[in-house]
Amino acid sequence: MVKKVLKTQVGIIGAGPAGLTLSRMLSLIGIDSIIIENQSREYIEKRIRAGVLEAGTFELLNEIGMGERMMREGMMHHAVELRFDRTRHMVDLSGLTGKDIMVYGQAEIVKDLIAQHIEIDNRPLLFGVSDVRLVEIMSDNPQIEFSHEGQKLGIECKIIAGCDGFHGVSRPSIPADTLKNYEHKFPFAWLGILAQAVPSTENVIYANHEKGFALHSMRSPKIVRNYIQCNVDDDVENWSDDRIWSELQQRMELDEGFSLNEGKILEKGITPMRGFIADPMQYGNLFLAGDAAHIVPPTGAKGLNLALRDVKFLCRGIEQKIINGNGQYLVSYTRDCLPHVWHAQYFSWWMTRMLHKFQENDPYQTQLQLAQLRHVASSQSASRTLAENYVGLF
Ligand code: APR
Ligand code: PHB
Repeated sequence: MVKKVLKTQVGIIGAGPAGLTLSRMLSLIGIDSIIIENQSREYIEKRIRAGVLEAGTFELLNEIGMGERMMREGMMHHAVELRFDRTRHMVDLSGLTGKDIMVYGQAEIVKDLIAQHIEIDNRPLLFGVSDVRLVEIMSDNPQIEFSHEGQKLGIECKIIAGCDGFHGVSRPSIPADTLKNYEHKFPFAWLGILAQAVPSTENVIYANHEKGFALHSMRSPKIVRNYIQCNVDDDVENWSDDRIWSELQQRMELDEGFSLNEGKILEKGITPMRGFIADPMQYGNLFLAGDAAHIVPPTGAKGLNLALRDVKFLCRGIEQKIINGNGQYLVSYTRDCLPHVWHAQYFSWWMTRMLHKFQENDPYQTQLQLAQLRHVASSQSASRTLAENYVGLF
């Protein structure tokens, strides 16, 4: 039995970047929402995730008044490095596209959005909810039922935004026979570390090496984020700090000499590599956004950018429906989002194929991969294709 019913216009499930940004955008156009989140505030503020923002993404955060700390502490990058054949190859993003990218951790965006939501705007966000259930999503008055601090609560709203990530409850609430899921699992994973070390280069490095892929990124002038391709069923227990640094050093080596700065490892975790898309991204008055609807392998750094792009379309649709009573943009939500999501899926797959070691590759295929890398690095049109996709012009 629901003890208390809360009323709002939009019920948002999940306080990740998608749910929090949607709520902020709606509040700026006078539409109320309530967010529920199953984890604690502390947990989601510390969760280490991606960190590369496309130009459109950091511009959006600025437009909604959430860019102040990002512009101060984030790192604007004008290039990315491809490293193979023990040589560095720069892709000049600004020169090729006129755009830059911003390196700013997703956890920082989440902290900024939560502080605005709770401390400045004093708006509702319930952490630590459980037993979340979506009710009557085909009706004009859908509801969300859940438990919070020992009470059974309900939210009555006009629209439910399912922003609860890949493992959330929103997508499984859509009847299986109306949903087509596309999924591809890659035969390796990424071991990611956060470490107390000064970044070794100005740019993010994507390294292809006979031992496997490695990536060097950063979070601040004193903190780095590095990744190593590992086995799909690997365990962090197999990776001592010494083994991690030794593998990173080998995979980043250069003929001209190079040493990656090392330091205390603050966090280690393994991320599976998958591509996933649910089609459609909506059912009745439930709309999925971000990881709830799609996952990309992290090689193209697109996950967070796609999530915020969905939110832009969803906000436009909700505004048109609630303010003008016209549901046209909500009807076309999936159609408006999915072609771009598929394109990002394609780019992420392309980067993943080009940069990783595939056990099944024969020496011929390995040489083809190197030929492709040399082409991307040396042809201006091929570099531009990478750059345009990376900064998000497509
Ligand atoms: N009820 C409420 N909240 C839930 C539930 C649930 N049943 N299940 C999951 N959540 C919460 C998660 O704890 C998480 O905080 O939903 C939130 C989803 O956030 P993210 O997983 O961060 O997904 P999203 O907001 O779509 O962000 C996009 O881009 O770089 C990628 O994967 C990266 O998270 C990132 C994503
Ligand atoms: C990161 O900084 O976490 C990062 C950078 C580039 C990627 C993926 C992750 O492609």
